[in-house]
Formats: sequence, structure tokens, C-alpha cells
Amino acid sequence: MDIEIKNLNKTFKSFHAIKNLNLSLKNINSLGIIGPSGGGKSTLLRILTGLLPFDSGEIYINNLKVDFNDKSILDYRKNIGVVFQSYNLFPHLTALQNIILPLNKIHKVPIELCIDKANYYLKKFNLFEHKDKYPRNLSGGQMQRISIIRTLCLESKIIFLDEPTSALDPSFTREILNTILSLKDEKKEYVIITHELAFVQKSCEYILFIENGEISHKDYTENFFNKIHENKFLNKFIDSTLTIN
Ligand SMILES: Nc1ncnc2c1ncn2[C@@H]1O[C@H](COP(=O)(O)OP(=O)(O)OP(=O)(O)O)[C@@H](O)[C@H]1O
Ligand SMILES: [Mg+2]
Repeated sequence: MDIEIKNLNKTFKSFHAIKNLNLSLKNINSLGIIGPSGGGKSTLLRILTGLLPFDSGEIYINNLKVDFNDKSILDYRKNIGVVFQSYNLFPHLTALQNIILPLNKIHKVPIELCIDKANYYLKKFNLFEHKDKYPRNLSGGQMQRISIIRTLCLESKIIFLDEPTSALDPSFTREILNTILSLKDEKKEYVIITHELAFVQKSCEYILFIENGEISHKDYTENFFNKIHENKFLNKFIDSTLTIN
């Protein structure tokens, strides 16, 4: 993916949440966003996904302008895959029905095709036997994986994930992170906000460290972590010791 951000600003009333942010990335397949709470990570992600208007600046994702003053934003939003911390499944629909709903109703994909596609991912992520369960009968990890499948089925080029594991019991974290890792097999590109440093190190090509509404550090992952010893800023995150097999 290519991301170009020029002089981006976002305020909430008098609070300056994103401060003249600039970024130019080319050919990155996976981007990790880390940093302290309240730094502006989710705000940036909501802007990049076309969900939150910004005050000033310019954004291009794969050379396409993210323009809130144009009705193209509706198409842009429709074609962007976003996975949030809370999985937002409809309680009155089964897992399978939740997956195919946006595909069928918003993207007008014929129902048989929706089911084929959903079944493909349900099998891939070992959830096929759970497809007819309602969310109340699924574990948190299963629900989050269903919501990831729902996003995958939309075939968006880039998937944006905002702390997809933080609402989960730690025992589910690994299965979600392994699911995200396997997005690479599907040739999907992703932008992920997470506090799981070990995961970012393993799964992301490039890292942004955002604090106080600014990108205070950025680099290719290997360089970024090589600098850990010089850079005390990461110390507070280092206790995240999750390992992924
Ligand atoms: N709708 C809003 N109205 C007012 N302030 C907001 C709003 N949304 C976010 N903020 C403020 O903007 C700042 C950045 O918030 P944001 O949610 O982007 O942080 P974050 O880096 O994602 O933090 P966390 O790691 O805790 O999720 C915070 O100080 C937050 O209180
Ligand atoms: Mg956040």
C-alpha cells in the first residue's frame, strides 16, 4: 500500500488530537501503529478509513484522495475493511448470517457467492462447525474471528484493525493474532493498532510510534527494534511479552 499524508490536523473542540502530521510510505504491505494511550492512534485510523472528517491536510491511500467533501467518500468507506476492538456482530443473526449480510445487502453479491466465500474463510479459520451459532453462543475469540472474516469477505485491498485483541481474554489473543498473521497468505495488506509489541515485530513491515498527536518515531520494523536500546521511549511497552508460534 502507499500512504501519503500531508499536514493533517484534527481537533476536538479546543483539543488538538492530530498535529500537522506528515507521512509518506510506498509499497508497505503491513503497517503497525503503536504508542501510549490517548496519543491519537484511533483518531488517525478513523480518519484514514473515511469515518472521521479532519480539519485540514491531505490524505492519499494508494493514490486515491480521501476527500470528505466529495461523495466518493461513500464508495471509499464501503470498500475499506475495518475491524474494531468490539466486534459488533448482530445478536439476532448467526455467525454465517453476520458474515454475509454486508456482502449481500451493501455490495449486492449474490447470496450463493456470499455463502461460498464465507464458507471458504470459515473453514480456513476452523470456524465452519460454528457457523450456525448465534453470537451469544460463541466465545469472544470466535466472535472476533467472525468479524475478521466478515471484513475479509469484502475483498478490500487494505484491512484496518484497531486493537482487535484488547477486549478479549488473553487466552484468545493468540488465535486472533495468528488469524491476522495469516492475512498475509491471502495477500491482504493491513494497518493494525496494537499494544502487542511482539506481534508487531513479527507481523508488520513498518512501524509508526504515535504520541501527543504526532509520529515521534517511524521506521522499518527491524531498524525500529534495533533502536530499542538507544530509545528509552519503548521501555514502557516492552513488558508486552506475548509470543506467537
Ligand atoms: N470524539 C472525541 N471528542 C473529544 N476528544 C476525543 C474524541 N475522540 C478522541 N478524543 C481525544 O483525542 C485523543 C486521542 O484519542 P485516541 O482515541 O486517538 O487515542 P489512542 O492513541 O487510540 O489511545 P488508546 O491506546 O487508549 O486507544 C485523546 O486525548 C482523546 O480523549
Ligand atoms: Mg485507540
